[in-house]
Amino acid sequence: MPSYPSFLFVCLGNICRSPLAEAAMRHEAAAAGLDLAIDSAGTGSWHIGNGPDPRAQAEALRHGIDISGYRARQVSAADFARFDHVIAMDRSNFTNLRKLAPASPHARLSMLLDHVPGLEGRDVDDPYFGGPEGFVATWDQVSTAAHNLVSAIRVIR
Ligand code: 4NP
Repeated sequence: MPSYPSFLFVCLGNICRSPLAEAAMRHEAAAAGLDLAIDSAGTGSWHIGNGPDPRAQAEALRHGIDISGYRARQVSAADFARFDHVIAMDRSNFTNLRKLAPASPHARLSMLLDHVPGLEGRDVDDPYFGGPEGFVATWDQVSTAAHNLVSAIRVIR
C-alpha cells in the first residue's frame, strides 16, 4: 500500500482560515480518490472546542461542504511528528510555528500560498474582522492551494 503525505493547516484561531483550508483539501482529496490524513489547528487557544465562525461555515456550504462539526484545537509540538506537512496561513503563524517546532522536526513547514505559483510567501489575509466578502477571498486562495497540493501528490502516485 502506498502511503500518502499527511497535512495540518494552521491559522491563529482555527475558526476561519484553517478550517476552510482543511475543508478544501478534504474536498480535493476525495475528488482525486486519495485517502489523506488532513487536520487543522490554531496557534492561539481562545477558540478551543468551538465550531468554525458562522461566516466560514456559510462559505463552505456555498461550495456544498458542511464544516459545522469541525472543532477548534491548538497546535502542539507533537504535531510536527504526527504530520508530514504543517502549513501556515500567514507569516505570523509561520513564525510562531517555527518557535514551537522541535529542533529537527519531521514535518516540513511552509506557507499555504507557497503552493500557488506567483503567490509564494504571501499571507492568506485574516477575514475575521471584515465582512463576508473576506471569506470569499479566503476560499479562493485555500481552494487553489488545495487543488495544487493534491495535484502534486497525484504526479508521483
Ligand atoms: P483565523 O481567524 O485565525 O483565520 O481562525 C481569527 C479567528 C479569531 C481571532 C483572530 C483571527 N481572534 O482574535 O479571536
